[in-house]
Amino acid sequence: MKLIVCENYAEMSRVAARMVAGQVIAKPDCVLGLATGSTPIGTYQELIRLYENGLVDFKDVVSYNLDEYYPISPENDQSYRYFMNHNLFDHINIDKNNTHVPSGEMADPDAECKKYDEMVENAGGIDLQILGIGQNGHIGFNEPDDFLYAETHVTDLTENTIAVNSRFFASIDEVPKQAITMGLGNILKAKKILLLINGKAKSAILHTLLEGNITTRVPASFLKAHADVTIICDKEAYGE
Ligand code: PGA
Repeated sequence: MKLIVCENYAEMSRVAARMVAGQVIAKPDCVLGLATGSTPIGTYQELIRLYENGLVDFKDVVSYNLDEYYPISPENDQSYRYFMNHNLFDHINIDKNNTHVPSGEMADPDAECKKYDEMVENAGGIDLQILGIGQNGHIGFNEPDDFLYAETHVTDLTENTIAVNSRFFASIDEVPKQAITMGLGNILKAKKILLLINGKAKSAILHTLLEGNITTRVPASFLKAHADVTIICDKEAYGE
């Protein structure tokens, strides 16, 4: 894993956005794997700025998001579909038909998860995957456990994740208890991975990741087995 330590969140976001823009410029019809959460918001803002300045064109880009709460309506302002529209898609020239977020309203989750994976495969796989990380080491909603899933699946959220994410909901009871997430196999198939980590609260997990072994108790540790991962973090996360 390559590591880039940035001065602060703004610099981390600029570095990440430049790498994403570089991918789009090199391959205008590339497939981006996108993530939600507070971490990539600055990267998305920077991508919007690059687009507004005519430096990058998203017209032929295809995107697949990692995860979505389940159940949830796409109109719910806490859904990841809403997040992506609001924080990125509504502000760039990507064709919304080319943007994919797992449906939080799947009637037949097993069949639809399988279809999601097939769509990614048929699109040629993910060229560049953006990831955040949970304080507990989750990526997407692959939570620490005795075993992990390779494919897209429905999963129970841990109490820790429900508590951490409750900050966005009116009350903790409104946080969905399940989610749909790409599995570790899907993530590791991406050709290139950018993992963004910022803030003091992520310092412990960043160092666990850098210094520890691969374990299902730290799902992100599986990234150590991938040939092209770049961690971009800020000094708060890395320490002085
Ligand atoms: P955050 O979430 O960016 O809001 O910290 C990251 C994650 O849980 O994967």
